[in-house]
Amino acid sequence: MSDFVADLVKQVKPSATIAVSMKAAELKRAGKDVIGLGAGEPDFDTPDHIKDAAIAAIKAGQTKYTAVDGTPELKQAIIGKLLRENHVSYQPNEILVSCGAKHSISNLLNAVINPGDEVIIPAPYWVSYPDMTLLAGGESVIVNTTMADDFKITAEQLREAITDKTRLVMLNSPSNPTGKAYTRVEMQALGEVIVENPHVLVATDDIYEHIYWGAEPLANLVELFPEIRDRVIIINGVSKAYAMTGWRIGYAAGHQDIIAAMRKIQSQSTSNPCSISQAAATEAYNGPQDCLGVMKAAFKERHDYLVEALNQIPGLKCAQGEGAFYAFPDVTEVVAKVDGISDDVELATWLLENAGVAVVPGTPFGAPGYVRLSFATSIDVLKAAVARLDDAIRPFFA
Ligand SMILES: Cc1ncc(COP(=O)(O)O)c(C=O)c1O
Repeated sequence: MSDFVADLVKQVKPSATIAVSMKAAELKRAGKDVIGLGAGEPDFDTPDHIKDAAIAAIKAGQTKYTAVDGTPELKQAIIGKLLRENHVSYQPNEILVSCGAKHSISNLLNAVINPGDEVIIPAPYWVSYPDMTLLAGGESVIVNTTMADDFKITAEQLREAITDKTRLVMLNSPSNPTGKAYTRVEMQALGEVIVENPHVLVATDDIYEHIYWGAEPLANLVELFPEIRDRVIIINGVSKAYAMTGWRIGYAAGHQDIIAAMRKIQSQSTSNPCSISQAAATEAYNGPQDCLGVMKAAFKERHDYLVEALNQIPGLKCAQGEGAFYAFPDVTEVVAKVDGISDDVELATWLLENAGVAVVPGTPFGAPGYVRLSFATSIDVLKAAVARLDDAIRPFFA
């Protein structure tokens, strides 16, 4: 029956992170003791006041279709959040609420990409960007960085990557999988390149903005360069900040013409995101914000422990992150030492089978030679995972 699957879809790779989680779950079901560090979601539960808002919405009968682009209440809550936290001002017709930030990105790419248009994606990148670009008919232009570059592209690299066919640049800060964030000065330099290229749009995927402990406040491109406001599309949502991955609420903020095009796509695909989840997200933005600090502090503590511990394991080199909940060590020395494996993908399988630890290989993030470990789990679990990794790897360096 695979003959019936469209050619374009055959080119799309299934999500590597979901694949690792599924493999780990399968081994667990088979009775194997596996520690899963593959997941990209907070281990915290959604705060009670947010759950209560959802329950109240159900009881109040908010169980019908809403406006395709989100309830007026949620849009106002998002507008309030953008003003309060990011110092940027938007109108309701410049906001589109979707079923997660992933859906917002997919809507955006489908709304602005013509066949063959180029999308610049700095690597390491979130696994989904290139495949979503492919599905939208675009061509990914990958700009590589390494640990030595702090995993960040420079203005020169961006300038060189831009061609007449460039339609969009995808920025993600703090980054999945590296945890690195652009400083204000670095963002300013990138912004200047965008100013010079009026045919280029920028998507800023800010989904990890609340899981950030860098030295200075995060720099927002729209705040830095109001003159390119119309060409920047802010992508964000409640999944990571408020531990609401399952509720599926994300949004885009941008020029009304682009938002209207995205809304049209959404109106012919999913229609509105879940009405109850929208009520919960409204409370997330309007309600008490102390949960953000509590979760951030826990992520920072785990980060500090894990990066330090990984660097004690022979053959692993791990940089400090400034946010998100991933460690992204260089594993090339381990790959070279362990018999019978030749890359990070094989190493990840080897670690699953020999150490009982599920990590995601760097290759699907556009970064061969690295693996990603999620620290969205307790310190005790991280300690157990580190001990297992150490036991499995150290003998090869004896
Ligand atoms: C960089 C990045 N952007 C977007 C998303 C998707 O977020 P959502 O759950 O809101 O669709 C993720 C989730 O892993 C992510 O890591």
